[in-house]
Amino acid sequence: MDIEELDTTDPTARRAWYDAQDRAIRADRPHALLEALGAVELSMTEPGPYADRTWLQAVDRGEVLGVAQLELPTTENLDVAWTEVSVVPEHRRRGIGRALWTAVVEHACAAGRTRLGGEVSVDLVVTGGGYDFAVAMGAEERHREDHLLAELPLAPAPVDAAYEVLTWRGRCPDEQRPAYLAMRNQMNADLPTGDLELEATVLDDERLAASEERLARSYDVRVAAARRRDDGVLGGYSLLFVPHGAHYGWQDDTMVMPEHRGHRLGAALKSVNYAGLPAEVTTVHTWTAPSNTAMHHTNTALGFRVVEHMHEVEVVL
Ligand SMILES: CC(C)(COP(=O)(O)OP(=O)(O)OC[C@H]1O[C@@H](n2cnc3c(N)ncnc32)[C@H](O)[C@@H]1OP(=O)(O)O)[C@@H](O)C(=O)NCCC(=O)NCCS
Repeated sequence: MDIEELDTTDPTARRAWYDAQDRAIRADRPHALLEALGAVELSMTEPGPYADRTWLQAVDRGEVLGVAQLELPTTENLDVAWTEVSVVPEHRRRGIGRALWTAVVEHACAAGRTRLGGEVSVDLVVTGGGYDFAVAMGAEERHREDHLLAELPLAPAPVDAAYEVLTWRGRCPDEQRPAYLAMRNQMNADLPTGDLELEATVLDDERLAASEERLARSYDVRVAAARRRDDGVLGGYSLLFVPHGAHYGWQDDTMVMPEHRGHRLGAALKSVNYAGLPAEVTTVHTWTAPSNTAMHHTNTALGFRVVEHMHEVEVVL
């Protein structure tokens, strides 16, 4: 068995890498949300400027038995590397995961990174080895979130009469951009990360535009924003992604600015986004820290249920 770097110029090899990861993750995570093939293909063939990525694989006689991804942020968090390691079920407990992890650590250290982090999701019912593996590799939990799922349609949540909801898909309209950027940056600054110490991503118009353009290639990106009727001020937004052609979507940020809280805008914004989805989108995923009582309650009241625990783990290299 060899650990090798994926040749991202080879479409067959890219697909084999993706399929191995897909099979490994689905084996013990029936509710896993996997990155869509189109999005993985885009990052493999046209890398974006904000992260350097390497794809590794464990190969035996032409068969891909396990895969790992390494991501090195290039703008902030320059001490951090992120990884995910997956081994197909028939070849587990033979040291393949450890060999991939060791290769990831070597790459991360060579790039000068001093911390390696990852997300390990554990189904509430099906037993998997992901968390025990991470602990065996020396990683410690820094933060935990619940992964929740809802089947659509959900009963609509009302919009407070003092607000109206604007929606757009893809690029934020020019007139809303300054307020939208301010809310996105507030969200990034306030994002609860537990004991995981990270620099917040700071978006300017150029970086927002680049991200909107890239995301639109893989996803139908839907935004709902609350505007106070009497002064036109934007008080919150909610961001939803649906991979092109998929029957599911997932909730990204939902943020209500401090002076606009207490009007149940979070639930209303999510609800407007879900109501606008085509009928073929039947499930929505979201992640919320159990300690974020307000948002956790908002989600369960809307009809979401917890299906997995997601552990954010980190090892100091
Ligand atoms: C986690 C995963 C990558 C492990 O792959 P693997 O090839 O079986 O791992 P290894 O054989 O190298 O195991 C290394 C050590 O991890 C621990 N470990 C791995 N699987 C375990 C399990 N099911 N239960 C308990 N400990 C486990 C053990 O300490 C093991 O050492 P040992 O076999 O000498 O006891 C694999 O189960 C998988 O792909 N799971 C789904 C994806 C996932 O959860 N990845 C999270 C990691 S970022």
